[in-house]
Amino acid sequence: MNVLGIETSCDETSVAVVGDGHQVLSNIIYSQSVHKKFGGVVPELASREHIKRIVPIMNEALDEVGMTLDDIDGYAATFGPGLVGALLVGLSMAKSLAWGRNKPFYAVNHLEGHIVANLLAHPDLDDNFLTLLVSGGHTMLIDVKGIGNYTVLGKTLDDAAGEAFDKVAKILGLGYPGGVALDKLAQTGDPEYFRFPRALSGKGRLDFSYSGLKTAVALHVKKLSDEDLASKKADIAASFQEAAVDVLCDKSILALKKTGRELLAISGGVAANSRLRNRMDEVCDKLGIRVVYPPLHLCTDNAAMIAGAGHIHLSRGETSPFNANAVPYQKLV
Ligand code: KG4
Ligand code: ZN
Repeated sequence: MNVLGIETSCDETSVAVVGDGHQVLSNIIYSQSVHKKFGGVVPELASREHIKRIVPIMNEALDEVGMTLDDIDGYAATFGPGLVGALLVGLSMAKSLAWGRNKPFYAVNHLEGHIVANLLAHPDLDDNFLTLLVSGGHTMLIDVKGIGNYTVLGKTLDDAAGEAFDKVAKILGLGYPGGVALDKLAQTGDPEYFRFPRALSGKGRLDFSYSGLKTAVALHVKKLSDEDLASKKADIAASFQEAAVDVLCDKSILALKKTGRELLAISGGVAANSRLRNRMDEVCDKLGIRVVYPPLHLCTDNAAMIAGAGHIHLSRGETSPFNANAVPYQKLV
């Protein structure tokens, strides 16, 4: 079965085709650049960009694998969480194609898509593991007992980890979205320059909190002269990143111990972070835990993970109705 998946929940317009055995046949991702000058995603502009790009990107995804719509057996699109106007573009497109061509359709939860990204990247995995999902909108520890069967063990009480990376990057003048730039700058800085707070750490809790960390960085920067800030920027980035990563590592280890899981699958945009990968490899190696990540292009938003999740559900005979709507604040469970 070949499934065409569409992702338009935020500022990536993406179309992919996934075949049997979690095989990604094509995965075209267009990251909208129109938002950069506004320092954040402008929802109205995101919807308009999706509308402009969706058909050419779908054609590119089909061309890349030498297919036409005649080769597609089912359609999937993200229905939430995300920006409502943006979600509606991909969702309407997938539903229209499925309805017009008399094929099944599945509405995919974006968060489940991020979980499935690791199955695409590591075909040897069965769907039983602990997941740390770290993105721009979510920070969650999830016990996965099969695709569709989730227990949320902990999540952020305020900002998401990726949001903290983006906000601190903005404070440091690194542009938007700043996660990648901050990661790069931090590689040249001293992670022990300043000890920023590790919220809710060491208390046996699996919930996260990132807004205090972002505020601590803002207050620290406020006290510095322009010259000091310029000379300490990399150290501040590295120290912030160390605090953010420390908490992600500590809580993942705690969740592994609580669940007895021996496999940790990390996904979402922040799973691309180089320090997180190094630290997590190190601590998991010591504990004899296998840790996996998707390749970078499957960490950040992409349609392959949506087509992959759709493929799993459609293969089970599960379909969504054609009146499935966009749900901006959709939860995982
Ligand atoms: O999964 P994603 O593409 O979108 C959401 O579903 O939210 O995640 C985007 C987030 C942004 O906050 C971005 O700054 C962050 O992932 N990100 C990173 C890195 N690459 C992307 N954060 C830290 N280090 C990175 N290398
Ligand atoms: Zn995402």
